[in-house]
Amino acid sequence: MTEEQRPDKHDPSSCRLETQAVHGGNAVDPGTRAIRTPLVMANSYALPEDPSSLSWSGFDTPLYTRNSGVNQIALQRKLAALEHAEDAVVLASGVAALHGVFFSLLRTGDHAVISDVTYEAVFRLFRDILPERYGVEATFVDTSDLDAVRAAIRPETKLVHTEVVANPTTRVCDIPAVAAIAHEAGALLSVDSTFTPPPLYRPLEHGADLVVHSLTKFVNGHGDAMGGAVLGSTELLDPIRADVMIDVGGVISPFNAWLISRGAITLPLRLRQHLASAQRVAEFLAGRPEVAYVAYPGLASHPQHELAARLFDGEPPGAVMAFALDGDADTQNRFVADLRVITSAVSVGHDESLIVHVGPDGPRAAHWPDEFRRYGHLRLSVGLEDPDDLVADLTAALG
Ligand SMILES: Cc1ncc(COP(=O)(O)O)c(C=O)c1O
Repeated sequence: MTEEQRPDKHDPSSCRLETQAVHGGNAVDPGTRAIRTPLVMANSYALPEDPSSLSWSGFDTPLYTRNSGVNQIALQRKLAALEHAEDAVVLASGVAALHGVFFSLLRTGDHAVISDVTYEAVFRLFRDILPERYGVEATFVDTSDLDAVRAAIRPETKLVHTEVVANPTTRVCDIPAVAAIAHEAGALLSVDSTFTPPPLYRPLEHGADLVVHSLTKFVNGHGDAMGGAVLGSTELLDPIRADVMIDVGGVISPFNAWLISRGAITLPLRLRQHLASAQRVAEFLAGRPEVAYVAYPGLASHPQHELAARLFDGEPPGAVMAFALDGDADTQNRFVADLRVITSAVSVGHDESLIVHVGPDGPRAAHWPDEFRRYGHLRLSVGLEDPDDLVADLTAALG
């Protein structure tokens, strides 16, 4: 089959997800005939014979790696295919992607409605930096409470921002319902879907205007590269490219884009194992008398268990949970120290299971559930180890 005869690997509708994850964004390299997009670390690309009319802040022609590059474009295509998005932009980190959404959409005098348990950097941006330096106001609300979202909307509200499943509370947001409220008010909805990557959930198919991922987490999946992505329409993404990539410099390194493209190939396969093991581990922990609480929407005890079942078609709702032992901070620390398979470290979505002990205080703690404020919490990201080994590790440490 010649190159011309190959089906378009970038067309999300032509293949199933696993196939898109393998082929999306990849192409035979015209220079070398390599069947895999090579890693191109060059900063600069050959100019056309007459470059005098080129825009130095454009991103359509390969020019300079801060404008766009081969590996960045390949990753964008793969992600757009996986998320069923018209377009994608990849940036240096998940926080750069979040910043890109807020700084390109909001102006002085605008107002935003933000989940009160949003990721901590977003919380700080909207509590301190955006209001104090840029005159953008925000109201923090429980986005699982639709009346509270409605009540927070103002005439100048331009954006509603939430996670599908919040970090670390695991609170679930009814994305279609919040999208309807935002749109009725003439605002956009941006959704951080880092904890719920495709195929588990695709917020754009449920009313979101923009989706953000920390690629550092499940999409790369191997804990060895940082990146972030915003997905949505080209109309909304082009200002982010212009502002955040070209004028602010939040560009992803080609090597990280290449690593993440490689990691994303196995996202659908990995996610299946992450989800099945997480449900099993959550049920195990919930059955242990030493455990004070387990926050995981796959458990019937979770306040949004039914909503999660509806949003995720009955699939386990992610691979991250929070729990605590019935005891003080020392009890939690001793338990973590006794784990032999699960690693004590921040981040989620890696191949290895990660646990982090967080105390009951912190910038967002006032919005955390009572049990988080009483015991603190252990955030556990369930990895790809054999679930029997994870349960054995937890059993031994509990003992
Ligand atoms: C839900 C969520 N969004 C965004 C981020 C930020 O991503 P990054 O660390 O890649 O900047 C994180 C990081 O933990 C996260 O958990």
